[in-house]
Amino acid sequence: MEPLIDAATEARERAYAPYSHFAVGAAVLAGGRIFAGCNVENASYGLTMCAERSAIFAAVAAGEQRIDAIAIVTAADSPTPPCGACRQVLREFGPHATVISATTAGQRTQHTLPQLLPDSFGPDNLT
Ligand code: THU
Repeated sequence: MEPLIDAATEARERAYAPYSHFAVGAAVLAGGRIFAGCNVENASYGLTMCAERSAIFAAVAAGEQRIDAIAIVTAADSPTPPCGACRQVLREFGPHATVISATTAGQRTQHTLPQLLPDSFGPDNLT
């Protein structure tokens, strides 16, 4: 998982967060490859994109639709969990994914997506 955390840490450096000043980096492992993302804020606030979804969408855009793990890195005092919207988007491509939250200071937590989003809504609910 170290390369994944390293990629998220590096992506965090490219966060565009002039309003919250809360820089987030994320990286997903999909198809054996790593795809990174960062949060991108907007003057209209509501159009802000989280780092996790940036990374997930980068993987999908590259042709990878199965996500095995995601790492999220912030400089917060404790590891930052993914927001609800990002949990639901991750559910689509990584229903069993490992979710690692890490701080730049080295703290870490690890969960599975079902732990973070139990009894979730997914593609099977539409059949
Ligand atoms: N943010 C993320 O990128 N991921 C999360 O899971 C939580 C929040 C971003 C959105 C916004 O740019 C800033 O953090 C403060 O909410």
